[in-house]
Amino acid sequence: MKIVNVIGSPRSGGNSATITQVLLESLGKTETQVKTFGLNKLNYRGCQGCMACKTTSDKCIVKDDLSQVLEEIQLADLVLIASPVYFGDITAQTKGLIDRFYSYYSPDYKTNPNPSRLASGKKLVFILPQGNPDGKAFEDIIIKYTRIFGRLGFTEIYPIRALGVGPGDDIRTKETLVQFIKDTADQIAGGKRNIKDK
Ligand SMILES: Cc1cc2nc3c(=O)[nH]c(=O)nc-3n(C[C@H](O)[C@H](O)[C@H](O)COP(=O)(O)O)c2cc1C
Repeated sequence: MKIVNVIGSPRSGGNSATITQVLLESLGKTETQVKTFGLNKLNYRGCQGCMACKTTSDKCIVKDDLSQVLEEIQLADLVLIASPVYFGDITAQTKGLIDRFYSYYSPDYKTNPNPSRLASGKKLVFILPQGNPDGKAFEDIIIKYTRIFGRLGFTEIYPIRALGVGPGDDIRTKETLVQFIKDTADQIAGGKRNIKDK
């Protein structure tokens, strides 16, 4: 299984990174078996709206540090995208990447029932820690991006939220959360959970 791990938090070793680590450990994967990208360390621009990916090219023509990330995701079976909630949404670093996912849409994406250039069968884990302990707060982020990722062609989408966690917290001591991460790993490894079931 080819795995790409994208960290959208600027805090290296923060909650986003720890959750991805626990998940990868639960999947029995070592660091060398995973391509990890810390977005904050990369130089890139968001989508330029040039429409080249809908006219002259089947890829994003912007050449920067995201070019490799976009290619690796295209080759991956499992993609992890981890972002803390910043001001009610994902971080700017993560949004910059997702805007470039526009290049995964085929030219006829508006009318085509299969609008994505991504091969079907890809799994995605969307990891979203937040300081607010209320699960109702920022639930909209999960709903919105699950739809977007589904339309982009990810077949199975697994959200992992961590509520009420901040810089001083150690994710590994949160038993319920760790159990949820392990259960998610089990589902990824063996189960089929369609986004329509959620
Ligand atoms: C600039 C900034 C904005 C934030 N905005 C929110 C927010 O709107 N809602 C919330 O619940 N937490 C918010 N937080 C808290 C983070 O989501 C939380 O600390 C998270 O666990 C950080 O994850 P990390 O360790 O992976 O960076 C914010 C933190 C920062 C630094």
